[in-house]
Amino acid sequence: MSTEGKNRVITTHVLYEMKLRGEKIAMLTAYDYSMARILDAAGIDVILVGDSASNVMAGHVSTLPITLNQMIYHATSVVKAVSKALVVVDLPFGTYQGNSKLALNSAIRIMKESGADAVKLEGGEEVIESVQRILSAGIPVMGHLGLMPQSIHKYGTYVVRAKDEVEAQKLTNDAHLLEKAGCFSLVLEKIPASLGARVASELKIPVIGIGAGGGVDGQVLVSHDMLGITQEFSPRFLRRYHNLYAEMMGSFQAYINDVKSKDFPNEREQY
Ligand code: KIV
Repeated sequence: MSTEGKNRVITTHVLYEMKLRGEKIAMLTAYDYSMARILDAAGIDVILVGDSASNVMAGHVSTLPITLNQMIYHATSVVKAVSKALVVVDLPFGTYQGNSKLALNSAIRIMKESGADAVKLEGGEEVIESVQRILSAGIPVMGHLGLMPQSIHKYGTYVVRAKDEVEAQKLTNDAHLLEKAGCFSLVLEKIPASLGARVASELKIPVIGIGAGGGVDGQVLVSHDMLGITQEFSPRFLRRYHNLYAEMMGSFQAYINDVKSKDFPNEREQY
C-alpha cells in the first residue's frame, strides 16, 4: 500500500524537538521498497534517498550521472514502504545549481511524483537563491556542506574538508546562511570533529554528520556501506555492522552448488 501523502510520524518539527532535548537523530540511505521497509520497521528517524544511488545502485564512479527521473523512481519506491520516518530526497547534480527556477521545478517534481517529505541539496552561498525559491513553495530543504560529492571534479579528491581556517570559516558562514534562509536541517560530511561540534552548537536546526564527529545532532551512513555489501569503500568514519558481501556470496554459491548437484529442488520443493 502506498503511503504517499500520508503524514509520517517523524516531521521536520520532531527533528527540531529532538535536538532541543539532546536526542540524537539516526539517518540511513535507502533506494528501494524492501530496504526502506526494514529501515522504517527498525525505527530509523530519517531515510535519505541519496544520490549515492548513482554509485551503489547504478555502478557509476561518482554521483554526477544520476538523473532527476532516476531519483524520482528510487524515491517513489521508498515512499511506498515508509509510514514513520521522514523521507528526504537528494536533488541530483545539474537540477538546481545556477538556476533557481529550475531548482524549484526539480524540487516540485520530486515532491509531487514521489510523495517524499523534503529535498536535500549541496552548497551554501552559491545555491542560496535556489534554496530560497524552493523554500518559498513550502518545500522543506536540508542543506549539505563539507565534502560535497557533486563537486568532486572541483576538489579532485575525497579527502577531509575544511581543515584550514579559510575553508572552515566559509563552511560556518554557509551553515548560518542556510539556517537563516529556512533550511530545517544540515548534513556535514567529512570535516574535523571540532568544527562539526562548533557548527552544531551555533545552529538551532539539527546538524547530521557523516564523518563529522560525535558532537553533531545525528549521524548518517550509506546503508550498503554499513551493512558491508560494498567492500571497496573504507573511510575512517564508516562503522561496518555486518559483512553482508560474504553472507550473500556464501548463499549464492550454496544455491549454485545445489542446482548443479541436483539437490535443489528436492521432493518437498516441487508440485
Ligand atoms: O547521497 C548520499 O548518500 C548522501 C549521504 C552520504 C549524506 O548525501
